[in-house]
Amino acid sequence: MVNVAVLGYGTVGSGVVEVIKTNQNVVNKKSGQEIHVKYVLDLREFPGDPVMDILVHDYDVILNDPEVEVIAEVMGGVEPAYTFVKAALEKGKSVCTSNKELVAKHGPELIKIAKEHNRNFLFEASVGGGIPIIRPLNQCITADEINSITGILNGTTNYILTKMSKEGLDFDTVLKEAQDLGYAERNPSADVDGFDACRKIAILSSLAYGKSVDFEDVYTEGITKISDIDFKYANILGTSVKLFGKAEKKENGINVFVAPVMIDSNHPLYSVNGVFNAILVNGNVLDDIMFYGSGAGKLPTASAVVSDIVDAVRNLNTSTYVEWSEEKLEVADIKESKKKFFVRVSGTEAEKLDAVKAAFGDVQTVKVEGLDDEFAFITDVISEKEYDELSEKVEGIITRIRME
Ligand code: HSE
Repeated sequence: MVNVAVLGYGTVGSGVVEVIKTNQNVVNKKSGQEIHVKYVLDLREFPGDPVMDILVHDYDVILNDPEVEVIAEVMGGVEPAYTFVKAALEKGKSVCTSNKELVAKHGPELIKIAKEHNRNFLFEASVGGGIPIIRPLNQCITADEINSITGILNGTTNYILTKMSKEGLDFDTVLKEAQDLGYAERNPSADVDGFDACRKIAILSSLAYGKSVDFEDVYTEGITKISDIDFKYANILGTSVKLFGKAEKKENGINVFVAPVMIDSNHPLYSVNGVFNAILVNGNVLDDIMFYGSGAGKLPTASAVVSDIVDAVRNLNTSTYVEWSEEKLEVADIKESKKKFFVRVSGTEAEKLDAVKAAFGDVQTVKVEGLDDEFAFITDVISEKEYDELSEKVEGIITRIRME
């Protein structure tokens, strides 16, 4: 029997206890041992909940119990999670976490400490919720140079963009609806400003390239400026707009960014709608491979945490190899990266097209019927720096969206 402690009895923590209880036989069989939840740590009381029998408020009870070999940290946030996890690994306990803030900030250090103690620090649930992506990157896609990872990594923003695209609604209306349904937080900034996706792509790119991508170095643009008018153009063009977290190897180095991107219907991520997440990985010999599923939610996320517990139990006295060093990966300057841009301009084509052509060349233009005071155009592939310089020459640019 292996004793496990769960730190945090919130949505994911209660899910972990539920998944182990519901699938006890499966989990035991897959682990090769019985998994027993010995403690749950939470500051709160849960009267009437069976967890009361194993609830503790003092972390030291868990830390100093040599019978506890695996800890599931599902509290979220950097502190006290970091202090708790570090202490657990130093005591020779393996840790499984869903905490992307913790992994993005302290991942390589915690991996190193786990290795020094012949234990494991596992974080499958930190990116893509229930979608297996960390283990595939770490253990399966090991014969390839990874050319790119492109992810729809945030369910809240994908829900909002899908609704805007399909129902013609504006951002504020859909955000409010998402908040009422409990998909979006009351303070939605982490999702809509792209910070959540930023931490997730920093984790994935660190694993893909073996060095630490600092999430603070990742160019991050959220979806707050995407409007219902943008989708009127997108629908005419047969495109959609998705919030991408992307890392790609280019001639100027490794580019990592989070931003809304306009994609056409041939793109593998075009049909990823609603709260779903997907991650498209391109390897130099494997080519494209895609992972799709629930990127959030109690049971999918708990499923990923419990899969890590099973892995930790299978490898109790072996540190499984993770290539993610503390050495910093210098990401390329986004200004050097090249793509097409979709650009909206106020005024009529008669007034503005000459200026647009003088700056950007012979561009394709797009008109939306009924929108008489603006039009849009699509640039050739140019660098972000070139775009910034050329756009200075055209008065009245309303917005621009990167295209892929
Ligand atoms: N707020 C996140 C999302 C939850 O919407 O995807 C999972 O990290």
